Amino acid sequence: MGVFMNNKTFCIIKPDAVKKGYIGDIIKMIIEADFEIVAMKMTKLSREEASVFYAVHKEKFFFEELLEYITSGPIVVLALKKDDAVENFRALIGATDPTAAAEGTIRKRFGESKSYNAVHGSDSDENAAIELSIMFEHCDFMDCCGM
Ligand code: RTP
Ligand code: MG
Repeated sequence: MGVFMNNKTFCIIKPDAVKKGYIGDIIKMIIEADFEIVAMKMTKLSREEASVFYAVHKEKFFFEELLEYITSGPIVVLALKKDDAVENFRALIGATDPTAAAEGTIRKRFGESKSYNAVHGSDSDENAAIELSIMFEHCDFMDCCGM
C-alpha cells in the first residue's frame, strides 16, 4: 500500500441536487455501481470551509460563483470505497459540463449546467485523502474503529 490508498474517494451531492430531491436517486446510482458507502452526512459549508476546499480554483473566473453555489444550501458528503475509486467514480459522474457528460452518468441525469452539476468527485488519490480528512473524523468511517 502506497502513501495514498486507491480504494476511497470523496463525493459531494451538491446544493442544486439536494434542493431538487435527488439525494436518493444519486445514492441509488452510487450503490448500483458497486461503491460501498463508508461514511456519510448532511452538512452545510461556511464560506471559509468552501474557500479551503476549493482553494485550487481561487484564481479561476468562476471561483466567486462556485463559493456562492456550494454554500447556498445543505450538501451530502460521502466517503466511497471501491477498487480504483477515484477513476471509477469520475467515470460514474461524467464530464464537468452535464451537456458533455456520457449517457448513464450522474451529471447527465441530474446536472443542470457546468456550474450547477449535481455532484463532486475527487480528481486524485492525494486529493481524495485531503478532502476526506477535511470533511470527516477518523471514527466516522465504518471501516475504522473496529466497526
Ligand atoms: P468537481 O471538482 O466539483 O468534482 O468538478 P470537476 O473536477 O469536474 O471540475 P473542476 O474543474 O474541478 O471545477 C470545480 C467546480 O467548479 C464549477 N465550475 N464552473 N462556470 C464554469 O465554467 C465552471 N467550471 C467549473 C463546477 O461546479 C465544477 O464542478
Ligand atoms: Mg475538481
